[in-house]
Amino acid sequence: MRVIITNDYDAMSKKAAEIVAKTVMEKPDCVLGLATGSTPIGLYKELTRMHKEQGLDFSKVRTFNLDEYHGLAPDHPQSYYYFMYENLFKHINIPLQNVNVPNGLVKDVKAYCAHYEEMIKQAGGIDIQVLGIGGDGHIGFNEPSSSLGSRTRLKTLTEQTVKDNSRFFKKIEDVPKFAITMGVGTIMETRKCLLLANGAKKAKVVAQTVEGPITAQVTASVLQLHPDCVAILDQEAAAKLERKDYYAYVERMTHQLTVE
Ligand code: F6R
Repeated sequence: MRVIITNDYDAMSKKAAEIVAKTVMEKPDCVLGLATGSTPIGLYKELTRMHKEQGLDFSKVRTFNLDEYHGLAPDHPQSYYYFMYENLFKHINIPLQNVNVPNGLVKDVKAYCAHYEEMIKQAGGIDIQVLGIGGDGHIGFNEPSSSLGSRTRLKTLTEQTVKDNSRFFKKIEDVPKFAITMGVGTIMETRKCLLLANGAKKAKVVAQTVEGPITAQVTASVLQLHPDCVAILDQEAAAKLERKDYYAYVERMTHQLTVE
């Protein structure tokens, strides 16, 4: 795993945007895997700025989101579709028929999840997947003990995740208890993963993910097996990494190699 430690949230977001933008410029019809939550908001702001000021073109890009709350309609203010529309889609020139967020209202969830997987396959697979990380190590909504080979499916959220996400709802009872999420196996098939984390609250789980054993108890730890995973962390999220200095050294050396 490549580990990039940035000074702060802003620098983390800009570094992530630089990598996503490079993919979009090199492959204008690329397939982006997207995440919601607080972490990628700065990345989406920066991509919006690049679109507005530098003409970064999303007209042929296709997107697949990791997850959606079960039971929430796309126009519900706390749905992940709504989040994506407000934080990214409405600010850039992506045709809305090119965006895919799991549908939280489907009746036959099992068939729908198989269909979501098929749509990703038909699109040629995901070129770059943006990931945040939950306090319990989840990626997507793959909570602890999710199979590391799991596919898109309905997951029961842990009480902790419900509590963490209640900050976006009026009261905790309103937080859905289930979500449709890409599986760990689905995420592992993407060509590149960008794991973003900021803030002291993520420091312990980041250390477990990057330097701990690979375990279904911290599903993000399986990213150690991904052939092209870049973790972009701010100082606070990186604080508990034992090999922090080495990761910084690698980045300096790589930079030297590329400029020489
Ligand atoms: C959201 C998602 C989740 C979040 C994670 C971190 O689509 O897949 O795994 O990335 O819960 O959330 P924040 O960024 O709010 O700390």
